Amino acid sequence: MPLVRDASGQLKFGGASLQELVAGLGTPTYVYDLDAIASGARELDEAFDGGPHLIAYAVKANTAGRVIRTLAAQGCGADVVSGPELRVALACGMAPERIVYSGVAKTDDEIDYAIAVGGGGIAAVQVESLEEIARVEARALASRPSGRKVQVSVRVNPSLDLDGLTHVNIATGHDAAKFGVPRADATGALRLVEGSPHLRLVGVAVHVGSQFTSTAPYLEAASMLFDLIRAGRGDGRLRALAFVDTGGGFGVDYTGEQPNPVRPADFVRAVRAEQQRAGAGDLSLTVEPGRSLVAPHGVLLARVIQTKVTETARWLMIDAGMNDLLRPALYQAKHRVVALEAPVDAARAVSWRVVGPVCESSDDFGEHRLNDAPPRAVALLDAGAYGYTMASSYNGRQLPVEAFVSGGRVVAHTVRPDVEGWVAERARA
Ligand SMILES: Cc1ncc(COP(=O)(O)O)c(C=O)c1O
Repeated sequence: MPLVRDASGQLKFGGASLQELVAGLGTPTYVYDLDAIASGARELDEAFDGGPHLIAYAVKANTAGRVIRTLAAQGCGADVVSGPELRVALACGMAPERIVYSGVAKTDDEIDYAIAVGGGGIAAVQVESLEEIARVEARALASRPSGRKVQVSVRVNPSLDLDGLTHVNIATGHDAAKFGVPRADATGALRLVEGSPHLRLVGVAVHVGSQFTSTAPYLEAASMLFDLIRAGRGDGRLRALAFVDTGGGFGVDYTGEQPNPVRPADFVRAVRAEQQRAGAGDLSLTVEPGRSLVAPHGVLLARVIQTKVTETARWLMIDAGMNDLLRPALYQAKHRVVALEAPVDAARAVSWRVVGPVCESSDDFGEHRLNDAPPRAVALLDAGAYGYTMASSYNGRQLPVEAFVSGGRVVAHTVRPDVEGWVAERARA
């Protein structure tokens, strides 16, 4: 358990005292437990049972170098969605041949970089439309005079009905989403890539969405891919296929109350079984988890600025806002809030509406049971994914600090941006 309250009442995360972190680094500050991230990746890796695979960590969830390097050291590769993400993954030691590149509108420069890097290019450019196939082919022709083929994987949109299965803003595998080649066009897209003298079809991929708490939609999307592969092979095609990529989306128990939450390893075991049943066991299995590898292993520390008690509400106003952690405003997500100084006394706990300082009604972290006496500082839990990476300087607020814990102590931290720098830059603009 990475978050524990010791006998003296100190709240420790990965063994480091959160009160000391607040005192030393100020707030808002993200804290990541690198050891827990490594052990989560190892647990996921074991679920492949020695079969050929790639855990392509979805870098968008958390781009901190120490986090990426920790995952790279466990053998993970990366799923990236932009040129800068590709470059940060490479800078953190991930080999090009362990990186896949998704995204609906890659620029020509980004495609050129991906197909040239390391001499041989990355594992696969994941094309998401028929139009993109033509664009990647044109870039291959322009930048590979030697005629060496560019490795491509086709991301298919499984056209599932995902209503009620996850938040509408993070469901991607349905007909109204911009992602992936529509299921109806999938066979045509595979043929198009296979028929190109400049492209090599090495993979087929799907990513149905994020934060699934049951394996059912994940398996449904994967089965669609396996059917596609079976049909193609039945026609004597798909000879160069090396991997099948069933995407990310493994959910996290943000409530901490699910009796038996589905673990990332459960998704992998289930999809491997499906892969074997479909006769596609010879292909390497790629998965693209982001959230599940990092969310539970990060907290966001904030200080309480003031309270406001009215007839209708008790507001606890903290110095972290939607600019630091956007998920509640964007997805109506709820992160548990824990007081740093003292555990909740259930008999005397009251409901506090925890809000940030940003001038938006959606800057609201929801109702939380905390002691009547307001805490001086709090931790927002499960904030390791889609936290810092979505942060902004809205309202003139500076980006939060990130601290990294390993072996029970802080091993590194970033520096809080200088307000004067922001003022000068904005004044100049
Ligand atoms: C293509 C792709 N792969 C993987 C992921 C990671 O999803 P998650 O963080 O839910 O595992 C995303 C997230 O949006 C994505 O768009």
